[in-house]
Amino acid sequence: MNFSGLFVLVILQSVCVLADNKLKVSIYYEVLCPDSYQFLTQQFCPVYKKIGSSLNVHLVPYGRATHKFIDNEWIFTCQHGPDECWGNKIQACGINEVEEQDAKIEFMCCIMNNYQQAATTTQLNYCVHHLNTTSKSVLNCTGSSLGTNLLVSYGNETHALNHLSFIPTIIFNDNLTQSLDIQSSILHNFYDTTVKYLNDTSETNNSFLVSSRLSVTLLPTLLLFTYQFLMH
Ligand SMILES: *[C@@H]1O[C@H](CO)[C@@H](O)[C@H](O)[C@H]1NC(C)=O
Ligand SMILES: *[C@@H]1O[C@H](CO)[C@@H](O)[C@H](O)[C@H]1NC(C)=O
Ligand SMILES: *[C@@H]1O[C@H](CO)[C@@H](O)[C@H](O)[C@H]1NC(C)=O
Ligand SMILES: *[C@@H]1O[C@H](CO)[C@@H](O)[C@H](O)[C@H]1NC(C)=O
Ligand SMILES: *[C@@H]1O[C@H](CO)[C@@H](O)[C@H](O)[C@H]1NC(C)=O
Ligand SMILES: *[C@@H]1O[C@H](CO)[C@@H](O)[C@H](O)[C@H]1NC(C)=O
Repeated sequence: MNFSGLFVLVILQSVCVLADNKLKVSIYYEVLCPDSYQFLTQQFCPVYKKIGSSLNVHLVPYGRATHKFIDNEWIFTCQHGPDECWGNKIQACGINEVEEQDAKIEFMCCIMNNYQQAATTTQLNYCVHHLNTTSKSVLNCTGSSLGTNLLVSYGNETHALNHLSFIPTIIFNDNLTQSLDIQSSILHNFYDTTVKYLNDTSETNNSFLVSSRLSVTLLPTLLLFTYQFLMH
């Protein structure tokens, strides 16, 4: 690759960095927990409908559970009993079925809204249309090592945070300390807290954002022309 090719690549890469302005929101929750239910159905899900495209959401359905490897298998114990372990696994398997964030969130919100009433496959059948799959496929996952491994991995991730004092816990941009400082506003006023955080942490103001979005669409074309011009 010659010098001008390298130049084009470097510029393209910096444009990509500019374009990634999303707030990462990691949610540590468990399906039968009243506080998780409250936060997700009353705060997060309605707000996601408004500003979801600014968020990069990481769901961790595990909560205050434990997992132990006994006699060659993983044994889970959940705060609200086996129904909760099964519900967490349904979530883990469901969100693993699709790539699109919107589909994952719609499925999670649907299960949260319905699973508290009864922990049966009826809820899964009702919610599965948000995913490009069937209840059969999700159940296949919950009954197999895939579902177990997904849940173990969410468990490892949760335990790595060293005893979260409250479930749900929501972490912005992987900064636990900073997120715990504003946890109460995150839990009770998710919209304002998120919008303020997005405003405060965006290094630039709105007019620059607009121009950077423009450059994201225009620059590659422009650079391609420059590149071809230089090559000939
Ligand atoms: C579902 O599948 C269709 C067709 O394959 C695809 O266009 C769409 O993006 C998929 N949606 C999700 C949520 O995966
Ligand atoms: C269930 O899982 C097995 C093993 O991964 C696979 O062979 C089978 O096709 C799956 N069945 C359904 C209905 O998805
Ligand atoms: C989770 O942690 C346990 C114990 O440290 C380890 O044996 C296991 O491989 C991990 N599993 C996953 C899926 O991260
Ligand atoms: C987390 O946020 C605090 C401010 O509350 C900041 O001092 C610290 O550098 C941040 N940590 C990381 C890893 O960004
Ligand atoms: C965020 O910034 C926008 C645009 O500058 C402004 O309209 C809005 O009031 C701000 N919101 C908060 C919560 O600071
Ligand atoms: C926002 O952008 C305008 C115009 O580019 C500039 O004059 C202003 O100083 C910027 N404000 C901040 C807080 O960066």
